[in-house]
Amino acid sequence: MQKNKVYIETYGCQMNVADTEIVLGVLKNQGYVASDNAENADVILLNTCSIRENAEQRIYGRLGNFKALKTKKPEVVVGILGCMAERLRKDLIEEKKIVDLVVGPDEYRRLPEYIDVAFNGDKGIGVKLSRTETYDDIEPHREDGLSAWISVMRGCDKFCTFCVVPYTRGRERSRSLESIVKEVESLSARRFKEVTLLGQNVNSYSDENSATGGDFADLLAAVAKVDRSMRVRFTTSHPQDLSDKLLYTIAEHPNLCNYIHLPVQSGSNRILELMNRTYTVEHYLELIERAKRIIPGVSFSTDIIAGFPTETWEDHFATLDVMQNVRYDGAYMFKYSPREGTKAYRMEDDVTEEMKTKRLQEIIEAQQSISFEKNQELIDKEEVVLVEGYSRKSDDFYAGRTDSNKVVIISADKEIQPGTYVKVKINKATHATLFGKFLSEVQIEKENIVLSA
Ligand code: 5AD
Ligand code: SF4
Repeated sequence: MQKNKVYIETYGCQMNVADTEIVLGVLKNQGYVASDNAENADVILLNTCSIRENAEQRIYGRLGNFKALKTKKPEVVVGILGCMAERLRKDLIEEKKIVDLVVGPDEYRRLPEYIDVAFNGDKGIGVKLSRTETYDDIEPHREDGLSAWISVMRGCDKFCTFCVVPYTRGRERSRSLESIVKEVESLSARRFKEVTLLGQNVNSYSDENSATGGDFADLLAAVAKVDRSMRVRFTTSHPQDLSDKLLYTIAEHPNLCNYIHLPVQSGSNRILELMNRTYTVEHYLELIERAKRIIPGVSFSTDIIAGFPTETWEDHFATLDVMQNVRYDGAYMFKYSPREGTKAYRMEDDVTEEMKTKRLQEIIEAQQSISFEKNQELIDKEEVVLVEGYSRKSDDFYAGRTDSNKVVIISADKEIQPGTYVKVKINKATHATLFGKFLSEVQIEKENIVLSA
């Protein structure tokens, strides 16, 4: 019997979600089929994340479960993909001996070969990083749906001192503009309504060979023109490379969402320098002001790290100040986690766990009250919402998102198909969710300019 059933679990960022689709694309070309059940799979893969210690701990825990399964069914191949494959190959294969396969993010093309090696009883190991691999020609395997992730560039050259990504994902490189536009065209034909262009640092996108020009603003413009009824988002942006051209491009195209994820990490210039973030708080705030001027109604989200080495209370208060100043719509907030091999790892991790917890808690509370206030300001306002389907909690309500990525719950008095744009009036808000009343459907033709509320 052919061994062809593969089960994948994905951890970490959206890049990994997109990579899992690439992996499935590669494997399907070789006759594999996706299974949603580990018990009856021939190959179990974990697409892993190394960004913080607790991400890795979770995955080690999960590997424990699969070890039990493997004692019952020794022929099953268990493999680690993604960032942990790069960082921990020795530990996983030689010391802990729990996996048969370790394949890093630039070697997925050869995954079928490595799986064959493992089927034959050897260890399949592929962890070389590449300067050129972008999987440009691989068609990712995607279920039908409304939203798709498209990875447009890989790797990162920024070397923030806390971050393991430049080591686990290698140097920056971009896909061709043409292949990305083609992918969006095919998603449009499949009635997808939203694409998110992904990269560790999307603003560094550069396709030097494209006839149409090739920086990130050019790419966004080209993607936006494919189908005006499709929303276009992108993440993540580094403050150093957010150009005016990009801001004007977002302003110009109505289906480019007026929403920018712009990690600040800290509000203290001293800490930003230790982090090698290459901007000051003043520069960051100036950029935010410029974006607000050029893109009316733009909203922001951010990433913040609490308790970087040497962080004092004063530094921490500076972070809270930036948050009040920008008034982010959302934030991803983390305790600093030392990562072996990074520059910050050599700095003393001198903020105690207790302090990190306290500061993180303050940051979370500050963000919750900002989000609450901002959402309250939307009451009685009209928003255009892309309806995604029934809400998670009840079939009496639909859930959808605004252009600024806020979840809106709408009473399901009237039948609304997923993928429909509707105009709603917001009548209630918490820090996390808006509630709205259906007003009307909004028709957006593929070639038309999107209406705003
Ligand atoms: N510790 C805590 N947070 C980290 N991040 C990256 N590395 C670390 C680390 N070592 C956060 C940053 C980044 C986000 C993806 O994860 O805020 O923007
Ligand atoms: Fe990590 Fe900094 Fe690169 Fe983001 S920009 S992936 S935080 S090194």
